[in-house]
Order: sequence, then structure tokens, then C-alpha cells
Amino acid sequence: MSKKVKIGIIGAGTIGSVHADAYAKVADAEVVALCDILADRLKEKAARHHIAKTYATHQELLADAGIDAVSVCVPNCSHAPIAIDAFKAGKHVLLEKPMALNAKLGRDICKARDAAGKILQMGMVRRQSPEAEVIQQAIAKGRLGTIYQINIKQIRRRGIPGLGGWFTTKAQSGGGALIDIAVHSLDLAMWTTGLWNPTRVSAKTYSKFGSPMRDYHYVSMWAGPPKYNGKFDVDDYVAGMVRFGKQATMSFEVAWACNAEPENYIEILGDKGGIKLGAGEPVLMTEMDDYQADVKLIYDTKRDSFAAEMAKFVAAVQGKGEVPATGEQGVIVMSLLDAIYKSSEKDQEVAIGV
Ligand SMILES: NC(=O)c1ccc[n+]([C@@H]2O[C@H](COP(=O)([O-])OP(=O)(O)OC[C@H]3O[C@@H](n4cnc5c(N)ncnc54)[C@H](O)[C@@H]3O)[C@@H](O)[C@H]2O)c1
Repeated sequence: MSKKVKIGIIGAGTIGSVHADAYAKVADAEVVALCDILADRLKEKAARHHIAKTYATHQELLADAGIDAVSVCVPNCSHAPIAIDAFKAGKHVLLEKPMALNAKLGRDICKARDAAGKILQMGMVRRQSPEAEVIQQAIAKGRLGTIYQINIKQIRRRGIPGLGGWFTTKAQSGGGALIDIAVHSLDLAMWTTGLWNPTRVSAKTYSKFGSPMRDYHYVSMWAGPPKYNGKFDVDDYVAGMVRFGKQATMSFEVAWACNAEPENYIEILGDKGGIKLGAGEPVLMTEMDDYQADVKLIYDTKRDSFAAEMAKFVAAVQGKGEVPATGEQGVIVMSLLDAIYKSSEKDQEVAIGV
């Protein structure tokens, strides 16, 4: 397929708008339809993004034969059912993170993709940052040697999104800080290092700030304002350690809210070099001759990560490239998240069942 790919966006919320803006920067893409269950939002967003057709349900949008591919931008609980319906309708799917509520649903999505013979791309946008790509390439070239430890810190001081809304209601979100934001760092850590074999995990989740909701003090809120008649029954902090067989370990600490300095980095240690992702221009800490040496990696930092993500999806649909984040990788990430929640619940180390 080399003609323009006709896109439908399902979910006209915050990220649905980001997708619409990003597709507008991709020459081979045209967003032809938008869907949302909220009529006012649908009308306003369709006008804002100049999208001609609107649908009140995803089923109606999927029945539109003029649509080749969809972006699924709805709350987490609807990822699997809508992605599966999309494949049944013969559409390609760009699926926002997290893949689904759990790994089993993720596997169901992959089965539907295989039955349809269509493209599935996971919305792991952080892989598209130039910094992540440069680090991934340095690791693939062996610059770090054998990797044995990863340290993840993803700390917000007061960053609970949409308190009382779907983000903090387990039945709709599947969880809190872990499934919402740690999903990005855990995916990025495994992708940059190529360590896709997490075997065991010991972890603990906490809910310290979101409940009672009226005691949560914040400066700004993504997806706010709070809905005090809603629910907060999810985690706002998680810490743990993952084993990758006998080769490597990964410690992680992720917070929507905690009493600590905000931080967001992934530190990767190998026997030939170490590097930090998220700390500005990456510096490879290594040795040269008899010295310790810092090698600054210089690259073009200007890139719109979302536009890069959509461009790769459109190219994959056209048969001109591979998806940059696969459903199989999505299932591994979901299996890790499932195991982290299980470890916390059981108060013990557990095996990760991919
Ligand atoms: N990649 C990223 O960095 C990133 C950032 C933010 C959100 N997300 C993900 O995107 C998804 C949406 O998040 P958001 O912040 O845009 O949420 P949002 O609440 O702003 O938007 C979701 C929209 O989906 C609509 N919706 C709900 N059920 C629907 C259905 N069955 N059919 C059609 N529309 C439906 C809602 O009315 C709402 O307008 C989530 O899964 C979230 O994790 C990803």
C-alpha cells in the first residue's frame, strides 16, 4: 500500500489530540474519522483537528470501509476489547500504553492480530526520543559490554493524574503509578538493553497519597480537576527488583506521589561502560587505556517523538518498515507488571510467566 493511510482515532481525550497533531505531521497519513462517547468533546475535537467524520461508538467507526488503521486512545480497560474489535473489522492498530489490563488480554490482542493478518504497534513513544535511540544503538554495538544492572527512578512529588477519575479507579485503569507510568520506563529499559527475559521479581506497591482524596495537596493535575465523588483504589508508589536469569538485575522506584525530589532516569551498568538515559545529553562512562573516560554522545536532539511514532506506524501499514514496538514485547511488559502486582500482594518474590 503506498497511497495515504486513512486513520480513525478512537478516544478524543488528551492523547487522542496528541495523535491527531502527530499524524498531521506525517505526509502519508490522513485522519479521516474521530470517535468518542462524549458528544460535546467529539464535536469540539473534530472541529479543532479538522476531522470530517465523527462516530459516537467505536463499532460505527470500525464499520467505515474508508478507514485503514486506527489509533486506540481510550482508558486502559477498553484497550483490549476495542483493539480486538478493530482487528476483526480488518483495521491495523496503533495501541496506546499500557497494552491492556493484564498479560492475558495482551495475548488475546496478539491472537486477534494474527487472525486478521494486520499490523499492531504499541504506543511506546519514549522509544522514539533521539536520546533513547542513541543509547539503544550504543548498547547494540557493545559499547557497554555485558549489562548486569539497571537502576530506574521515575519520581513525581505530587503527580497523581485525574484523581477520582478512571486513572485512579482500578476496574478502569488496572492500577496506578505502575501501569500508568512505570510501564514506560520498564519497556524502555528492556528495549535499550535488549534484556527481554525478565524471570523473577520482588516488589511492593503502596497507596499513601491518593486516599482520602481531599487530603491530597497538589500544584497541578494532569486530567484534573479531582472528582471527589470518584474512587482511588490503586498504587501511587512502587519499588522492587527484577532478575533477568543469572545475567542481570533491575531495581526500580516509581511514584505518582511521594516526599522526594522529582527524578526520571534509567541508569544502565555494563562491564565496559555505563550510561544514564534521562539526564540530558548521554555520557558513556568507560575506560580508555589506563584512564577512566567520559564520552559525550553528540546527536541531533530535535525530533517530535509522537510524529516519529506515527510515521513508523504508517510506514509499517504501507509495508515499508517494521513496527518499532511489537505486541510480543507488549505482552512481556504486561507479564512483568502482573508479576510486580502479584509479588506485592503475596509479599514474596515471584516468577514472571511470559
Ligand atoms: N503515550 C503516552 O505518553 C500517553 C500519555 C497519556 C495517556 N496515554 C494513554 O492513552 C489512553 C487515554 O488517556 P487520556 O489521557 O487521553 O485519557 P482521557 O480521559 O483524556 O481520554 C480518553 C477518551 O476516551 C473516551 N472514551 C472512553 N471510552 C470510550 C469508548 N468505548 N469509545 C470511544 N471513546 C471512549 C473518553 O470519553 C475520553 O474522551 C490511556 O490508556 C493512557 O494510558 C498515553
